[in-house]
Amino acid sequence: MRYNRLLEIGLTEKQIKDNLLFAGEKVGDQMKVAMSKSDAKKWFGAAPPDLSVEVRARGADWVYSYMRGFYRDNSRPTGWNNTVYDKVAMPHILYELQGEQTLNHETHKLELTKPGKLSVTEYDSLVGDLTNFLAYMSEPAKQQRNHLGWFVLLFLGVLLVLTYKLKKAYWKDVH
Ligand code: HEM
Repeated sequence: MRYNRLLEIGLTEKQIKDNLLFAGEKVGDQMKVAMSKSDAKKWFGAAPPDLSVEVRARGADWVYSYMRGFYRDNSRPTGWNNTVYDKVAMPHILYELQGEQTLNHETHKLELTKPGKLSVTEYDSLVGDLTNFLAYMSEPAKQQRNHLGWFVLLFLGVLLVLTYKLKKAYWKDVH
């Protein structure tokens, strides 16, 4: 995914430059992770995925639940575990916003034991926005495709009427 794709969703070139390019990248460059794969393996035990295709791989619902599913688990190296990804290697990077959840092993439900900077609804809507953005990144042309689909259906509809009329005309004299 290139930075200049963000022009499509309403950012200006200046906004991209001022807020997202910190290390001399150009607006036409691809977005890259600063952490190398081998470092990630050493530090976390697993390399993070390419997030630009994550929603295509797992589905938006899964990613949304994943970002809401982190809970405290001191048996894990990072201190975090996840309800939809057991023994996940990723730490809960948004814990300051969400706060800390614990898993109630009797009810199998998550409980917010330490509130974060955001309320539950605020955090959920932030994660919703993030997931929507990742869904857009996974398939930037989806909106156009859906839009084009209606014209294709309309065209097929018109073609159906015309072919039907043509058939009638051909068979008119046959009894
Ligand atoms: C908003 C930012 C981030 C999002 C949306 C995000 C999302 C995700 C998702 C959806 C997965 C699951 C991958 C799968 O399908 O297998 C994942 C895995 C992972 N992430 Fe993140 N991540 C973020 C930031 C980070 C950061 C900052 C780190 C490192 C400090 C990190 C480290 C990892 C690692 C190591 C994995 C692999 C987990 C495993 O295979 O057990 N992530 N991330």
